[in-house]
Amino acid sequence: MKAHLTRRYKFSASHRLHSDAMSDAENAATYGKCNNPFGHGHNYTLEVTVSGQVDENGMVCNLVDLDGFVEREILERFDVQNLNTLPEFAETVPTTENLSIAVYDILQRGFRLAHLERVRFEETLMNSFEYAGEKQKL
Ligand code: NI
Repeated sequence: MKAHLTRRYKFSASHRLHSDAMSDAENAATYGKCNNPFGHGHNYTLEVTVSGQVDENGMVCNLVDLDGFVEREILERFDVQNLNTLPEFAETVPTTENLSIAVYDILQRGFRLAHLERVRFEETLMNSFEYAGEKQKL
């Protein structure tokens, strides 16, 4: 029997939406107030959804293992950081779309105890972002 498991995590980080490939005017036109030179912060809610066969213990995967991986590989990397300074965003603008892809890729590469379905970020009360890998492309 296959089931899905979704777990929520919280972390805080700051970012500035700015691309070195564009002029200051183009950045301002593209990113608006999110291009403010001083950046701004978000309290992100991250949802990680995994799936798999329900095992003999009645679980898709042990939450202790999932929490340990996310703590070590995601929260320690991104919590209370300026996303613009991190290697994950050396080449890409730290929009929450790109943050979703970065987190998905880390989980996809390293978490082997269940199948990764998707990650979902709530950035504010008004917007959220999901990424489920290239397979899901329409
Ligand atoms: Ni923002």
